[in-house]
Amino acid sequence: MATIDRPFRCEVPVFFATSEGQTRRIAEHLVAVLRDRGFESQAIDMAGPDAVLVDWTSVRGAILGASLHMGKHQKAADRFVRRFAAELNRVPSAFFSVSLSAASKNQKEVDAAESLARAFPAARGWTPANVASVAGRLAYREYGFFVRVLIKWIAKKEGAPTDTSRDYELTNWQEVEALAREMTRHIRARAAA
Ligand SMILES: Cc1cc2nc3c(=O)[nH]c(=O)nc-3n(C[C@H](O)[C@H](O)[C@H](O)COP(=O)(O)O)c2cc1C
Repeated sequence: MATIDRPFRCEVPVFFATSEGQTRRIAEHLVAVLRDRGFESQAIDMAGPDAVLVDWTSVRGAILGASLHMGKHQKAADRFVRRFAAELNRVPSAFFSVSLSAASKNQKEVDAAESLARAFPAARGWTPANVASVAGRLAYREYGFFVRVLIKWIAKKEGAPTDTSRDYELTNWQEVEALAREMTRHIRARAAA
C-alpha cells in the first residue's frame, strides 16, 4: 500500500468506498484475481489520501466499488468519480455497487439496486464498460442497537436472514471473480487492437 504523498503507478487500481468493510473485502478479492492474471493491482480507499495520487499514465484499466446506505453510495465515491470521470473514461473501467437488495428475494428490490448501480456512474459523466450490482454482507454483530433493528427490518422485508446473533455473507464470490476476468479481457482486447 502506498503511503507516500506523491503520485504512484498502478496498472489496475481497484478503488473502493466502504462503511462496514465488505466493499473493501470485495476490492481485495478483485486485486488477488487480477494479480493472479499477471496485472499489477492495488485496492485503494477513496476516502484515504492515496486515491488522488494514482498516476493515470500507468493505468490500463480501473475498477471502482461503493456500497449502498439508505439508497446512496458513499460521498467519497461521489467526489472521486466527479473529479476523475475523464480519466476513468479513457481506460476500460467497471463499477460495482454492493448492497443488501442485490440478494433480495423480491425482484423489484433486485431491479432497484441494479438501477441505482447504473445511475451512479451515469449521473457523474462516467461510462464504465461494466456495471455490477453485488450482494454484500449482513454484519449484525458489528451494528449498534438501532442499526441492527433497522437492518433486521429491511432484511425481513427482503427475505434475508434475521438471526442477529451472527453475520451473513451474501456476496457471490464467483460473480466477483467474473468481474475481474472481464476487466482483464477488456484490457487485453484493447492492447491487441
Ligand atoms: C445503515 C445501513 C443502511 C443500509 N442501507 C441499504 C440500502 O438502502 N439498500 C441496500 O440494498 N442495502 C443497504 N444496506 C446494506 C449494505 O449495503 C450492505 O450491508 C453492504 O454489504 C455494506 O457494504 P460495506 O460494508 O462495504 O459498507 C445498509 C446497511 C446499513 C448498515
